[in-house]
Amino acid sequence: MRLRRLFPDHAIVAGERALDGLAPGALAPPERPAVLANMVVSVDGRAAVGGGSRALTVRADRVVFHGLRAQVDAVLAGTATLRAENYGRLVRDADRRAQREARGLAADPLAVVLTRSGDVPDVPLLNDPEQPAVVLTGDDAEPIAALRRLRAEHGVRALLCEGGPTLLRGLLGAGVVDELFVTVSPLLVGGRSPLALLAGAELDPAPALELIWVLEAEGALFLRYRIVREFPA
Ligand SMILES: NC(=O)c1ccc[n+]([C@@H]2O[C@H](COP(=O)([O-])OP(=O)(O)OC[C@H]3O[C@@H](n4cnc5c(N)ncnc54)[C@H](OP(=O)(O)O)[C@@H]3O)[C@@H](O)[C@H]2O)c1
Repeated sequence: MRLRRLFPDHAIVAGERALDGLAPGALAPPERPAVLANMVVSVDGRAAVGGGSRALTVRADRVVFHGLRAQVDAVLAGTATLRAENYGRLVRDADRRAQREARGLAADPLAVVLTRSGDVPDVPLLNDPEQPAVVLTGDDAEPIAALRRLRAEHGVRALLCEGGPTLLRGLLGAGVVDELFVTVSPLLVGGRSPLALLAGAELDPAPALELIWVLEAEGALFLRYRIVREFPA
């Protein structure tokens, strides 16, 4: 699988090299992990089709999806996403686990669940003895407290949030997201109950985004943004 880099320069990038040099742990401030978020949307901005995101993904999206999982210490998904997508072990492929170890990471990333209600989904991810997991509840699930704990107690330097839109809105509102990866899939979805990239209250102030790169494959665009904390006037 090859991707075309359209910005900041033009190049052909092999899929397995697309996320080389990311080193997200290096972005981490001292008190919390660096937080990357990864989402896929249709051209009309929908984040789900028929209650899930699977129908939105193209083959090349799996390259970014697995590539990001391969580079982080921990993966976080909202409770509704865990249920909707029936999450299982995060890195099932033995070669991918070996690649993680070769990078100096644990073979399996830590699965993180934040739940204020304590209603933990009964999904394969949380019943697999091979999958390390931590569930933070109540006040410990608030983003800043949770991230501090993940860094201090679990040594997490890089965390990947895979959504959904409600949890991502919560993390952005707390000002703790460092980078956003968005795949724009070449699809139109329509429908009457749109789930967009973010759900919940409007972000105020709205964070500005700095474009880092744009890749293209199979008509899908892969956008990587840095969240700029100095908000424009
Ligand atoms: N297109 C994509 O890339 C993508 C990615 C992921 C998911 N999805 C889709 O999105 C849908 C699910 O997303 P969703 O927005 O309904 O739910 P969600 O974001 O997956 O989960 C929301 C839940 O997360 C928990 N949570 C813990 N801390 C939070 C905080 N600080 N802020 C907000 N929530 C917090 C809450 O659970 P408690 O009530 O237990 O406290 C909340 O109800 C599914 O259809 C899924 O397929 C799409």
